[in-house]
Amino acid sequence: MRTSVKNLLNSASARDSVELAGWVRTRRDSKEFSFMELNDGSCLKGIQVIIDAGIPGSQEVSRMSTGASVRVVGELVESPGKGQSWEVRATEVELLGGVPEDFPLQKKGHTPEFLRSISHLRPRTNLYGATFRMRSRLAYAVHRFFNERDFTYVHTPIITASDCEGAGEMFQVTSNGAGKPEEDFFGKKSYLTVSGQLEGETFACALSNIYTFGPTFRAENSNTSRHASEFWMIEPEMAFCNLEGDMDLAEKFIQFLVKDGLENNEGDLDIFAKFVDKGLRQRLEGLAGGGFERMSYTEAVEKLIASGKKFDFPVEWGINLQSEHERYLCEEVVKGPLTVYNYPKSIKPFYMRANDDGKTVTAMDVLVPGVGEIIGGSQREERYDLLKAAMEAHELSLENYGWYLDLRKYGTVPHAGFGAGFERLLMYVTGMQNIRDVIPFARTPGNCEF
Ligand code: 4AD
Ligand code: MG
Repeated sequence: MRTSVKNLLNSASARDSVELAGWVRTRRDSKEFSFMELNDGSCLKGIQVIIDAGIPGSQEVSRMSTGASVRVVGELVESPGKGQSWEVRATEVELLGGVPEDFPLQKKGHTPEFLRSISHLRPRTNLYGATFRMRSRLAYAVHRFFNERDFTYVHTPIITASDCEGAGEMFQVTSNGAGKPEEDFFGKKSYLTVSGQLEGETFACALSNIYTFGPTFRAENSNTSRHASEFWMIEPEMAFCNLEGDMDLAEKFIQFLVKDGLENNEGDLDIFAKFVDKGLRQRLEGLAGGGFERMSYTEAVEKLIASGKKFDFPVEWGINLQSEHERYLCEEVVKGPLTVYNYPKSIKPFYMRANDDGKTVTAMDVLVPGVGEIIGGSQREERYDLLKAAMEAHELSLENYGWYLDLRKYGTVPHAGFGAGFERLLMYVTGMQNIRDVIPFARTPGNCEF
């Protein structure tokens, strides 16, 4: 039975016989024995293995170079070395797979761009191993957060005929390419979903509190460090809830994930603090312990104008806030996380609840320093006539979206929800600067390797 390196390093006592396997990080040889650091990705650290010359398999030791895969049987003993508690004294070693000299991860200090080009190998580096362990851990924390609050997890479809955000940035799904939609697989045009919200609302209007967590797709041609064509979104939807309750949940949700990231990662967080962002721990602790500022869109625009700062995209009431504005607001104005609410109706999707002023809707965005928008949500328009009018104004087919309108026809309720970009959350928690570095295989315009 193989034991993980993490388990061995955390062992409470010495063990007579252990078996482990992993990839060689470094090796030093002397005449009588070799020191090998073996890492299996179960944690950041590797374990030191001492291979005496002459034990079974030791004749292959010269081929156990950086990147090679090795199986070891031996004894777990206390380590005399500094900075580690346990090491393995091998009684038997086996080279599973050697590495030719062109192994790309020989040396340290590769650029993120180069590592992206070898996305199939980069999880073997310390930084990317830590990133993807953190991704897994936070995905689990997402489910814990909602489970603890009695939210039901709903699997909304990935193939859909609705355009939730109404922006027309959808990938079409087809089995006959150039054919007519009526003759295509589903008998109509279908797409990869941009959001599970609309289908999620149907379940909130039955099970009250629900969430979805799955892949979403956007065919927008944004080549930025924060946009991906395929990304994961967490979308809770709550019946009997208004904008206020929605903002409360969004802020608690981010705090929960940040706390989890801070508490539970043996060494992983330190590597981000060391190589990516020196102030990381302080920033995360500040968010976990502190509050979020809130500001209406109108106030935000006033603050931006009053700052006198020259932005690339000029500020006036009615504009869609750009990332330079969002970042200025949280990095310079409030110096922390900020929730902006009540945006102009003209720049938001059809489903948001209209405010009485006739100009704004109950939209909200949560912005954080360094990343900008991390969450977008709203209270939904639950009044039949107003929703119908909004759909008509957005030229949505009342036939295709009849089921959505039905929710307002049969026992309508006030309800609200939001979408949190999982990769953006990860960027915030790890300090990683590019969305391509927190998703295993990034899909961006012009790039679908692996
Ligand atoms: O603001 P968005 O577009 O909102 C919606 O899709 C709503 N239907 C959500 C809801 O209310 N249920 O997207 C939500 C979040 C954004 O705040 C951002 O974090 C992330 O999804 N996001 C992206 N992340 C990576 N790449 C992209 N291209 C993204 N577009 C949105
Ligand atoms: Mg948004």
